[in-house]
Amino acid sequence: MDSDKIIDGRLYSSQVKAEVKEETERLYIEKGIQPGLAFILVGDNPASQVYVRNKGKACEEIGFHSVTKVLPEKTEENQILDLIKEYNEDSSIHGLLVQLPLPKHINEEKVIESIDFRKDVDGFHPHNVGKLLIGQKCFVSCTPYGIVEMMKRSGIETKGKNTVIIGRSNIVGKPMAALFLRKDLNSTVTVCHSATKDIKEYSLNADILVAAIGKAGFVKSDMVKEGAVIIDVGINRIEDKSAPKGTRLTGDVDFEGCFPKASKITPVPGGVGLMTIAMLMRNTLDAASGKMY
Ligand SMILES: NC(=O)c1ccc[n+]([C@@H]2O[C@H](COP(=O)([O-])OP(=O)(O)OC[C@H]3O[C@@H](n4cnc5c(N)ncnc54)[C@H](OP(=O)(O)O)[C@@H]3O)[C@@H](O)[C@H]2O)c1
Repeated sequence: MDSDKIIDGRLYSSQVKAEVKEETERLYIEKGIQPGLAFILVGDNPASQVYVRNKGKACEEIGFHSVTKVLPEKTEENQILDLIKEYNEDSSIHGLLVQLPLPKHINEEKVIESIDFRKDVDGFHPHNVGKLLIGQKCFVSCTPYGIVEMMKRSGIETKGKNTVIIGRSNIVGKPMAALFLRKDLNSTVTVCHSATKDIKEYSLNADILVAAIGKAGFVKSDMVKEGAVIIDVGINRIEDKSAPKGTRLTGDVDFEGCFPKASKITPVPGGVGLMTIAMLMRNTLDAASGKMY
């Protein structure tokens, strides 16, 4: 396998984290500020528990102060809003993250909007989303932000390219489209979704193809143009009897099938997922030092 084709999330995420660590040490020496990140986890969703644990570990590695507040599934919305208000006012906390999804009885929009946008290191607050769209400095959703960082670090040209994004979620597809439209990336962007009539018609024209669908192996070789850059955001757990636990993680792209045609491709695992946490660390440091992308 031609390993030059692989966009290595392990390498780039460790580079980002090392840079953030160094800047964190400098921030402390020069200004006495230690970045602080608070996590609010409601309920006992196992995937959410793993995500929060991994984010907490990254904080520790880098030298951030972090706190995790775990609330029971039946917590009332007002209790979450009160806790957010507390962290909004706490000067030792620069970033505040409410792990999604929230239990059904909680209004997710209301919760996100109650976070001080200057502490919204997830980049989900309408204030940040709006600024992203009009090209102003803001906190950018960590997954698409991580994709931009990977592309820059691996020297992929985006200017004037046809970039096709499959998926239009608020956390991946839409902010990804807004980023590719920015003048620094300067792509021509197409967004496909479940009502798109013939995705292949668009994907075959993609110089850069981003798959953020949540369906294992959705993007097949016959949907991809020769020489395309393929970014696989998907994280899907599928059955695999040969794997120790009987399951394994896989992306939205049929990696083996698409690899020969791709000029560059992200693996799953070892790709976009690792960048997401690294960019959360970047956003938190920026929140502590008053910067934004
Ligand atoms: N690597 C990471 O750090 C990271 C971060 C976030 C998410 N993820 C993974 O990325 C994937 C997508 O996540 P998400 O949160 O964006 O998912 P989501 O909110 O479920 O959105 C999925 C998007 O895909 C579209 N879609 C679904 N089926 C389709 C089909 N058959 N044809 C065309 N479009 C289709 C949906 O269209 P409609 O809008 O029309 O419904 C929707 O826009 C998941 O596997 C998730 O686990 C990874």
